[in-house]
Amino acid sequence: MIKILIANPKGGSGKTTLSTNLAGYYASNGKNVCLLDLDKQQSSYSWVRRRPEHLSKISSANNRDALAKKKNIEIAIIDSPAGIRGDKLSDAVKEADWVIVPMQASTYDINATQEFIDILKAEKAVRKERTFVAMLGMRVASRTKAAENLAEYLNDSGFPVIGNLRNAQIYAHTAEHGISLFEMPAYKAKKDLEQWAPLLKWIKNLEK
Ligand SMILES: Nc1ncnc2c1ncn2[C@@H]1O[C@H](COP(=O)(O)OP(=O)(O)OP(=O)(O)O)[C@@H](O)[C@H]1O
Ligand SMILES: [Mg+2]
Repeated sequence: MIKILIANPKGGSGKTTLSTNLAGYYASNGKNVCLLDLDKQQSSYSWVRRRPEHLSKISSANNRDALAKKKNIEIAIIDSPAGIRGDKLSDAVKEADWVIVPMQASTYDINATQEFIDILKAEKAVRKERTFVAMLGMRVASRTKAAENLAEYLNDSGFPVIGNLRNAQIYAHTAEHGISLFEMPAYKAKKDLEQWAPLLKWIKNLEK
């Protein structure tokens, strides 16, 4: 089983949006996926409950024991809560094979994420490349000063930047209906699907 942790202690950075859409990507490609929601708000967990019957099944868990009991899971996507720190954060990073950090471009978001990046860099599993980490710009409006600042900051983080997802109403739609971009008519999601290409390339490379 490959465990993908989606984390950023900054609230509202896009963790649940990324987790649910990535789960939809894997499920629609025939993988046996479980979405583990570590957040008390249970947003990912309830997204799975809203999934239309006809779509590929996504299994869900709201604690690690429940995940461990599931059989034949190929991919576990772990949606983590805002404010996670200390041992909880470090344990979550240690158990992950890959970590994706979604972050927005504002000064507040950048400042709030700095400490987390330092923790990731210091984590032994990351230093020894047992855990791979990548950064993803979220709700980034291209050609703005904020986007430029974020790009600069992300490049300095030392972790690969696997793209930027624009601010788009389609993400609210996927959240509401229990679906992902990958399960919508392609013409509706075309521009946004294009923005996922580098992220999907990064994970495909790791799968090899
Ligand atoms: N690229 C995007 N375009 C438009 N809206 C987005 C995008 N990404 C996230 N959002 C919206 O921003 C809000 C916060 O996103 P989300 O819930 O994914 O963040 P989070 O990191 O999981 O938050 P929390 O820390 O509270 O768990 C949601 O309403 C979501 O629909
Ligand atoms: Mg969330």
